[in-house]
Amino acid sequence: MKVLVGYYSKTGNTKQMAELIAETIEKQGLKAHLRPVEEIKAKDLLSYEGLIFGTPTYYGTCSCQVKKLLDESVILHGKLNGKIGGAFTSSNHIGGGNETAIMSILEAMLIHGMVIQGDSQGDHYGPVAIGGLDERARKNCIRFAERFADLVKKILG
Ligand SMILES: Cc1cc2nc3c(=O)[nH]c(=O)nc-3n(C[C@H](O)[C@H](O)[C@H](O)COP(=O)(O)O)c2cc1C
Repeated sequence: MKVLVGYYSKTGNTKQMAELIAETIEKQGLKAHLRPVEEIKAKDLLSYEGLIFGTPTYYGTCSCQVKKLLDESVILHGKLNGKIGGAFTSSNHIGGGNETAIMSILEAMLIHGMVIQGDSQGDHYGPVAIGGLDERARKNCIRFAERFADLVKKILG
């Protein structure tokens, strides 16, 4: 089973998160494809059981590069139903709009009919880093990726 970890990152913080998430998913026995969103074509999304997107927080929402892919995914409307989805972000500030940035991705996934798992113990909507990966963000990325892989196996394995 394959999971796509697509990300946009201008200064490398979101990329660090994406790398750790992809590495952790591989450790759980799934194939993880780590790709910048600019290189992903909407039709590629069909090949994966799980889709995870990462974005820097830009004015409380996702970057236009991530939004472009989400908008292009309209050609697959109805066809991503039942796939597992998740999102993560890096922002400058606590309370800097990071959770709304994650939600902007999850909203599109929900409209596609995808399955999203929240977390009562870790970062609730998806992993958040303030800048690069500190110890707290590292733990949350690993926890998120482990739970994501478990869910893919449980539902689609
Ligand atoms: C256009 C723009 C808008 C931003 N808006 C926010 C924001 O609303 N809140 C915030 O905390 N950080 C904001 N930032 C900071 C980035 O989210 C932060 O630097 C992030 O770590 C960058 O991720 P990257 O290294 O993957 O590019 C903004 C940065 C840019 C360039």
